[in-house]
Amino acid sequence: MMPKRTKLQFFLVLTYFSLIAGLILFVQQKYFFAGAQEREVLNSSQTAASDLSGNWVVEAPYADGTVRRSWFNLKQEGDKITGSIRVTLFYYLITESTHGPEGFTLIGSMKDGKSDRRVQYEAKLVGDELHLATRRRPDASLTELAAHRAPAGEGTLPARIAPPPLRKVPDNGLARTPPMGWNSWNKFAGRVDDATVRSIADAMATNGMKEAGYLYINIDDTWEGKRDEQGNIQTNKKFLDMKALANYVHGKGLKLGIYSSLGPNTCAGYEGSYGHEEQDARTYASWGIDYLKYDWCGARTLYTDEEMPAVYQKMGFALQATGRPIIYSLCQYGRLDVWKWGADAGGNLWRTTGDIRDAWDSMSEIGFGQNELAQWARPGHWNDPDMLEVGNGAMTEDEYRTHMSLWSMLAAPLLAGNDLRSMNPAILEILINREVIAVDQDKEGKQGRQAWKSGDQEIWTRPLSGKAQAVAIFNRATAPAKVAVNWGDLGINGKAHVRDLWLHKDIDWPSMDHSVTVPGHGVVFLRVN
Ligand code: GLA
Repeated sequence: MMPKRTKLQFFLVLTYFSLIAGLILFVQQKYFFAGAQEREVLNSSQTAASDLSGNWVVEAPYADGTVRRSWFNLKQEGDKITGSIRVTLFYYLITESTHGPEGFTLIGSMKDGKSDRRVQYEAKLVGDELHLATRRRPDASLTELAAHRAPAGEGTLPARIAPPPLRKVPDNGLARTPPMGWNSWNKFAGRVDDATVRSIADAMATNGMKEAGYLYINIDDTWEGKRDEQGNIQTNKKFLDMKALANYVHGKGLKLGIYSSLGPNTCAGYEGSYGHEEQDARTYASWGIDYLKYDWCGARTLYTDEEMPAVYQKMGFALQATGRPIIYSLCQYGRLDVWKWGADAGGNLWRTTGDIRDAWDSMSEIGFGQNELAQWARPGHWNDPDMLEVGNGAMTEDEYRTHMSLWSMLAAPLLAGNDLRSMNPAILEILINREVIAVDQDKEGKQGRQAWKSGDQEIWTRPLSGKAQAVAIFNRATAPAKVAVNWGDLGINGKAHVRDLWLHKDIDWPSMDHSVTVPGHGVVFLRVN
């Protein structure tokens, strides 16, 4: 028999344990059922939401007050997705989609001139957002984006405006010699703003560049804001008053240039002039703009390359209709042999290649690749192998001298692309070498050609006014080279007056050797009278 006290203790412990067990059972049951219910809700919402169909937008706000947008207009049928992807200035049709455990892989493609552009996104739903991951370049790290639902129809391309019939734009009489100045893109890209432009103008007006012939201060892409209700283009937060800026630049005895695109968007995704050509030309004129660089960019979504001449002409006429002298610079990377029709479209200059980089390979490939185009350059109409990289830091002084000499042989526009406020004296000296600039600015406007080549060494000649000639002996190898020159073949004999344009000294004919030593990636640049 248990004693009375122990019985009571036993009873209490039993009650205690039963209570605990009951509580556990209650909690378990409650959460088990709730869990089941929630899982059910989750399952049904997953089925509904796992349909990616709809219009989605990714918005990227910029500090200048503008927003870059990408739209994903998707239609899902089972495991397949069709539709379009508009990444501001590019418009892709979805040509492939695959469904994996993590979501969908979408591949979009578009025709761009002779080539095909492709994008690839991994897409999956997370809550009520569409999460996307892509690589900007195959070797780049993943960029992750979140899209939210957008109203149907938002982000569709504007309707195509048929190109006007071809009509030759009369010569505007400008740019009798290749334009000289500065452009913001190579150094500042999207960081250019009003204060930078003013201080660059200050520098150019006082450091000897203005006296050497540099005139235009050109603002490249990223100044654009939204259009107002009347469709007038406005500046973004970086440029509060373009007219005041133009007045400032003009006050320094310099001129102001600007940039736009034929398409709805520029290359950097800002507002382009599409459908507003005359209006924009009038706005530029009212601000006091003297130069327009007009970039193909967003136009590729609406026009074929073959339509370029007609759509470029539109702005050519629009600029002339303003009555203000505005240099017209075509930028379409040399497609469709622009040198053959650029002048008829009203162009004073036309880019002949893709974008230059501050690198020997890029600069030399572009510069030495211009030989075939010589016949198309003439006063008022120039081949443009892109802006200068002199002083941007990734080439040696010898390489920058080659860059400057080659561009002068090519009668190329001389648009400095470095920070003029902080360059060292050696760089300034390269940019303001007046004897070299005189070759570039020669009034006959004949572009130089390759006269001789052996391995990595090339001699280029350029006829100059007054029966003079420029001779550039280039060494494209990294080591110094002795180049045997047959002066007679170049028409140079005892009667000639020969001057070294980098050493700034005359060379006595008797002392002229048959071989000239040229530094690696360097040049010996002569003027022969
Ligand atoms: C293109 C042009 C460049 C520059 C950028 C701006 O790439 O070729 O020179 O104007 O656009 O976005």
